[in-house]
Amino acid sequence: MSPRRAKHAIKRIALLTSGGDGPGMNAAIRAVVRRAIHHQIEVVGVCHGFRGLMAGDFIPLPATAVSGIINRGGTILFTARSPEFKAEAGQKKAIDQMQKAKIDGVIVVGGDGSLHGAHELWHTWEIPTVGVPGSIDNDLGGTDNSIGFDTAVNTALDAIDKIRDTAVSHDRIFVVEVMGRTVGFIALQVGLAGGAEAILIPEIPYEISKIGTAIKRGRERGKESYIIVVAEGAGRGIAVAADIEAITGAETRATVLGHVQRGGAPTAADRVLATRLGAAAVDLMAEGRFGNMVGIQADKVIVTPLETVWTQKKTVDTSLYDLALVLAT
Ligand code: ADP
Ligand code: F6P
Repeated sequence: MSPRRAKHAIKRIALLTSGGDGPGMNAAIRAVVRRAIHHQIEVVGVCHGFRGLMAGDFIPLPATAVSGIINRGGTILFTARSPEFKAEAGQKKAIDQMQKAKIDGVIVVGGDGSLHGAHELWHTWEIPTVGVPGSIDNDLGGTDNSIGFDTAVNTALDAIDKIRDTAVSHDRIFVVEVMGRTVGFIALQVGLAGGAEAILIPEIPYEISKIGTAIKRGRERGKESYIIVVAEGAGRGIAVAADIEAITGAETRATVLGHVQRGGAPTAADRVLATRLGAAAVDLMAEGRFGNMVGIQADKVIVTPLETVWTQKKTVDTSLYDLALVLAT
């Protein structure tokens, strides 16, 4: 096992994807493997995230293993949520497996929880570790965007555009629930891009009675169809639709987009982001800069300590919310 300040060069690293998957993770895997060849570092793939790390579920990742995956959604390494890894006993199992497999360091691609796990590996166990932000929720500090966010937004937008067609044809109100766990990044972005008449996000309190009354008045003036985007953390689409229908007396339908937002071919933006971040993560490994996460801010690759992810958790830009509100009236 490599000591805390890596006295010897990193020769063999493990790569895992963890937590919720996101389109672009495969592009990151490809970039890690190919960049590692440049640094003469061998990459071992860990299947199913930290669960696979604890079980020694490792596969070789030669250059050929990552051919033809840049355009594929999901993760060829699979992913998992593994509560066992949060406890010391689980982490010890992972350390033992890494020792057995002579692994010098780990690159972790994932969201807030996964990067907490990466932080544990470095700060508690002194395993050279580098993090790569991957989450459709996009709430990680230290980067403008996380891998998967742009694709999730575009997937949700495509659905909203289609819903708009039927909403207009039927003079109906639609409530569209999008993902985002406790944050409203997807809802805000897609609401703005889709011209939603209202956007409900957990960061900004709302009164359903006021929204319903405004819609009722709008319908009296002749505007019949509406799209309301609700972040899952701000309320359930079905409940919001029932409330709106009760207030307006107008037919209101709810659509829950759900996991469709996590799949599909990554957008160009996500492929480029993932490619740059994957390559940068290997560069950090080769340079011995452990305990960090790579991110991109203002189109530049930046390096921040892993804990930046949660100590400087990203918050939504409320000016975008204000803009959407003004444009919807
Ligand atoms: P995401 O990475 O998408 O936020 P989760 O929150 O489910 O997803 O976290 C993924 C995995 O990361 C967890 O199942 C667990 O194995 C690991 N993890 C989460 N939090 C911690 C923690 N505090 N310490 C160690 N490992 C953690
Ligand atoms: O964190 C990504 C995410 O898709 C959230 O937006 C959502 O709340 C959650 O994961 C869903 O988790 P699961 O796939 O375990 O149902």
